[in-house]
Amino acid sequence: MAEENIQLVEQFPGADDYCRLRSAAGMSPKTIEAARKGLPNTLYGVSLRRDGEVIGMGRIIGDGGCFYTVVDIAVAPPFQGRGLGKRIMTALDAWLRANAEPSAYVTLVADGEARHLYAKYGFVETAPASVNMEYLVASNPAD
Ligand SMILES: CC(C)(COP(=O)(O)OP(=O)(O)OC[C@H]1O[C@@H](n2cnc3c(N)ncnc32)[C@H](O)[C@@H]1OP(=O)(O)O)[C@@H](O)C(=O)NCCC(=O)NCCS
Repeated sequence: MAEENIQLVEQFPGADDYCRLRSAAGMSPKTIEAARKGLPNTLYGVSLRRDGEVIGMGRIIGDGGCFYTVVDIAVAPPFQGRGLGKRIMTALDAWLRANAEPSAYVTLVADGEARHLYAKYGFVETAPASVNMEYLVASNPAD
């Protein structure tokens, strides 16, 4: 597969491509309504495109000063393991280095083996000093 046919574009996918690619990559689904609300709040995002089709994505959200979070890193399964995840992370890392204040705190949740990818960009595991805590709005046990 010719990697030169795959272009990195400094624009995050639209809501339809976003929902499709999350599902294709085995990530938890997002409703189209959530995507339409949330994606315009992206600070910086990129897409990987091949013949017009979105096959990869990644973005940074946050307050633009103190806190940033790397989310939605995904490569379509047929294209995984070819260095495309690194192309996405290299672009996000460059943006952070150029735009984030020295005191900014950058976090992400690493699913499974993806932690090896993020470690290449300086991310370190915080457990047990701190752990990720979460709930899905639809199933918040505190309700
Ligand atoms: C995680 C993901 C984005 C990585 O993209 P990719 O294009 O497959 O990754 P790359 O080919 O660029 O590999 C990048 C590095 O990550 C590491 N890596 C990626 N997947 C790995 C795995 N399954 N096991 C071990 N290391 C892995 C490797 O160290 C690799 O570097 P190397 O080739 O120099 O050794 C992709 O596999 C994916 O979309 N997975 C499903 C969705 C997902 O889990 N997203 C992450 C949510 S946190």
